[in-house]
Parts: sequence; structure tokens; C-alpha cells
Amino acid sequence: MDSVFVCSWAPDDVLQALNSRFDVEHVNVFDTGPLPREEFDGRLAGKAGAMLLAAKVDADMLEAHASTLKVVANVAVGVDNIDVEAATRLGIQVTNTPGVLTDAVADMSMGLLLAAGRRIVESDRYTREGKFQGLSFPLFWGADLRGETLGIIGMGRIGQEVARRARGFGLRVVYNNRNRLASDREEDLGATYLSIDQLLGESRYVILLTPLTDETRHLIDADRLAMMRKDAFLINVSRGPVVHEQALIDALRGGRIAGAALDVYASEPRLTEGLVELDNVVLTPHIASGTVDTRHNMARCAASNLIAVLNGETAPNPVNLVSS
Ligand code: GLV
Repeated sequence: MDSVFVCSWAPDDVLQALNSRFDVEHVNVFDTGPLPREEFDGRLAGKAGAMLLAAKVDADMLEAHASTLKVVANVAVGVDNIDVEAATRLGIQVTNTPGVLTDAVADMSMGLLLAAGRRIVESDRYTREGKFQGLSFPLFWGADLRGETLGIIGMGRIGQEVARRARGFGLRVVYNNRNRLASDREEDLGATYLSIDQLLGESRYVILLTPLTDETRHLIDADRLAMMRKDAFLINVSRGPVVHEQALIDALRGGRIAGAALDVYASEPRLTEGLVELDNVVLTPHIASGTVDTRHNMARCAASNLIAVLNGETAPNPVNLVSS
């Protein structure tokens, strides 16, 4: 019987399905917190498969376990925590969980846009602090959506679902993506392709939904923040390092943009100093896909990938191409 390491929360049905097929070592990182590298590495020893959330899987680790490890099933759509190039070289299949989280992340993107634009969190704090003295005209004025421009950077599945939702709010949608969409898709979404710099110059709201790669690391740096409108809001639901966090703090502090909403951080779970003191930023703890059904489905999706590969079948959601 193959041994697998499940380093993630997983519902009972998933654990049962895995237990009936494999010798399972399970660590619920929700209870333990992230495992130190040495412990994670130690637990990978002798395993044919690993199912994990957020743990860093580097080339050294993959090399050390390449003689037994056949599959790394990430319980996430982003795979920047895994050295996919090394895995491919070593013939290790990497899989992810696309599709099942598209709606949840698109919903959260709009939620963060509204929270930042309408100052919902700031006014919640004010109300809790007992400062509300009755309906008053100049209180927490925010930004409208109808007629404003939303720029989406990263127009994959999630970006496209954000575009659909945004149109319902009357937003004009512009986008940038590594590959431009086919014109009928652009038409269907009502989205106009722009260069990143043009998009930043035009948009009242900018949502980042791009994967973290060498090309997108610090995509939004001080220069790009300077291209944004002074009344603009930046919403990051991709990966923290896509934004230069210190440059963002400086821009928010200096009023060079109006506000931001972040679900992800440059050095998670640590927050760059100065961030929490700012009123014009909404901070959530990497929960964009965090709905009851979506989290269950992500675990199920990752488990089905793990099972398929160890059964010698094609993974439903392969990230890399490995020769069998
Ligand atoms: C979560 O951040 C994911 O990549 O699914």
C-alpha cells in the first residue's frame, strides 16, 4: 500500500477515501500551524504522494524524495509554493484545484472592492467604538461603482468571473493578461484589453488576480503605484509578492492612492510594519476561497488528483507535464 502525507485540513469523506486506499499520515495544519521545514521534509520521507496547503516544497526537498514521491497535490490553485520546474525534471506530478474556487474568489474580490470603496470596515470600527451620533451627511463618503472603470490584471477563470459581476454593478471593465483573450470572449465579457500602464492610469479600481511568477513579482512597485489615479483603490487577491508592500504602504500613507484591500501579503503571515496603522486599507487573512463548500471541494479536488496519479491515471488537474 502506498503511503501519503496529508498536510492540510480535510473533511471526513476525504480522509475516509484516502484511508481506504493508502497508509495516511495526516497533519491538520489548521491545528498545528505551518510545520517547520525539517518536520515537513521528514514526514515526506517514503511517501508516494503529498496533499498540502501552502507548505513550501523546494527543489532540494523534491530531489531528496524523488525516488518515492510521485505526486504533490496542492490544495490551492496557485502553485508558487512548489518548485514546479524541479518537479517536472524529477518526473513528479504537481496538481492544483482550479474551477472549484472560482466563484468564491470572484465574490470576495467584489467584496473587498466594495469594502475599500465604501469604507465598510472603517465605519464598522467607528460604530463599535460608540462614535455614531445619528445620521449625518458628511460621514464616511466613499466611491461609486456605476460608471467607474475596473482594471483586472490577470484575466483567467477568476478574472473573467469578476468581470461578469462587475458589469452587474455598472462598472466599465478593462483588463490585462499575459495572453489577450479571443475577441468573442472579450465581447461576451464586455472587457477591453489595455497595457498594464494604461490600465493603471484609467482605473478607479484595480484588482490583481495574476499568479505569482518571476514576471509578476513586484509587478506593482513604486513606479506603477505612481501611475495610478489618486482616487484609485488597489485590491490584491493574488499573491502578496505581486505588490511591493513597502511601496504600497508609502503610497497609502502619502495619499497617492485612495485605498487598498489585501487578502494576501508579501511575507505571510507577517505583515509589513505600518500596514495595520493605516485606515485606508482593508486587511483579510488569505480567505478569498474560504467558504464552507469551496474549502470542502478544494480538499476533494486535491484528493481526487492524488488518487488518480497513484492509480496510474491522468490527473484531472495537472500543473506540469511529466512522462510516465
Ligand atoms: C489560494 O490562495 C489559492 O491559490 O487557491
